[in-house]
Amino acid sequence: MISMLVPEKDKAKIRTKNKVKTIKYEIEDKYKKLGLGKKYYIKTYGCQMNVHDTENIKAILDQMGFKECEEMEKADLILLNTCAIRENAHNKVFGMIGRIKHMKEERPNIIAGICGCMAQEEGVVNEILTKYKWLDIVFGTHNIHELPFVLDKALKSNSLEVQVYSCEGDIVEDVPVKRDSKYKAWVNIMYGCDKFCTYCIVPYTRGKQRSRNPKDIIREVEKLKEEGYKEVTLLGQNVNAYGKDLDIDYDMSDLLSSVAETKIDRVRFVTSHPWDFTDEMVDTIAKYDNIMPYIHLPLQSGSDRVLKLMGRRYTKESYLKLFHNIKSKVKNASITTDIIVGFPGETEEDFKDTLDVVEECKYDSAFTFIFSPREGTPASKMKDSVSLEEKEDRLHRLNEVVNKYAREANEKYLNKVVPVLLENESSKKNGYLAGYTDTMKLVNVKAPKDMLGSMVSVRITNVQTWSLDGEIE
Ligand code: SAH
Ligand code: SF4
Ligand code: F3S
Repeated sequence: MISMLVPEKDKAKIRTKNKVKTIKYEIEDKYKKLGLGKKYYIKTYGCQMNVHDTENIKAILDQMGFKECEEMEKADLILLNTCAIRENAHNKVFGMIGRIKHMKEERPNIIAGICGCMAQEEGVVNEILTKYKWLDIVFGTHNIHELPFVLDKALKSNSLEVQVYSCEGDIVEDVPVKRDSKYKAWVNIMYGCDKFCTYCIVPYTRGKQRSRNPKDIIREVEKLKEEGYKEVTLLGQNVNAYGKDLDIDYDMSDLLSSVAETKIDRVRFVTSHPWDFTDEMVDTIAKYDNIMPYIHLPLQSGSDRVLKLMGRRYTKESYLKLFHNIKSKVKNASITTDIIVGFPGETEEDFKDTLDVVEECKYDSAFTFIFSPREGTPASKMKDSVSLEEKEDRLHRLNEVVNKYAREANEKYLNKVVPVLLENESSKKNGYLAGYTDTMKLVNVKAPKDMLGSMVSVRITNVQTWSLDGEIE
């Protein structure tokens, strides 16, 4: 082993007032031929931030001379960009590592590694160091820009190379990107999270909240528009807190206005934490036609008692007030949410408060989860007397209500004409293209392939719970 840098959970949660460093990515010439003749395959788990990180990793590998390949079995370099949010994400990755082991037994020259949020976990890396030493490379969310250097080391040594920083993190500009789509793009506006909701691992895997300089963000959006992109999604774990950590007086509402002023067709943003959602932001969303009337507004729980234990800093009442404020000001707004059931000690009464909110908000859709204890988080140490059976029953009951309203929301679209950006060929229907409405409804549209990338008016002809079908008007 040459040198190792392993994650440390006590360091990962430290927050200081130290100024965030901005680094400019540059690749040294000596790394540019390292990958010549070799193919890579990356599998991505988790949220949009990971999806976008993968787009950066791919571009860096391309710079190093590697070529992308679609099949893991044919790759010389295999990377798993992992997610740590729940136990099942974790298990999926270890299942995949098992598969890679078999491949490596047959082709020992394969370089295999993990990156992303699981790589930032001390427990995971310890497990890798004891049980999966045959892996070649582990790097974290804080040093994607050092990939050429880390890979160089891994290629030269025959042992596992672990390079993970547990730190607050920097901002890295000018990282190349190989985007999955030619029409819509992810744009990071901030990194990390300082909210420390008691159940959540993200503040430990992604470092402190760091907002990018607005000039860098706007320059990126302008360039995307020049390149023909129709849609940008501004990314952050709680985008509403954007700017709070900058020295200038500039917040999410200002950023939304500036991005909308670039006149790119569509502006989206995820994820909104109800805590920082200001009235100005609601007004800005309502004001600009190119800011999409779609808001993901995680509820987590409808019980004030549970919300307090979760550290969410809003109440059922203040959440509902915000919800109705958005609905009344933003024309035609579609609102979706995330809900956790079975938080430690959640009673039937607490759960009913959650159902109450769902009944009132009638969400367009919702991601629902059973609480999963994450090592190192406060909630993982809370006393939990609710059985798994009970939790599964609550999830089931919740999903029935969620699905009912998702279907009802979609039914309102029947025979309506809606704007759709045609993004790719439909995976379900031959001769159809798939795209999203302004309100983020998936629509399968009968259209020829050469219409990909167009914004069209579509009449909805058929409605399902999770998608719509339509024809161009
Ligand atoms: N930043 C976003 C959430 C990102 S994680 C926010 O604050 O809303 C995405 C979703 O995963 C969360 O909204 C939550 O519902 C769920 N989640 C996070 N940690 C979880 C855990 N330990 N168990 C179950 N679900 C969890
Ligand atoms: Fe996790 Fe809360 Fe931060 Fe969202 S706001 S990433 S749930 S700690
Ligand atoms: Fe998962 Fe990390 Fe995103 S834990 S949800 S990939 S920030």
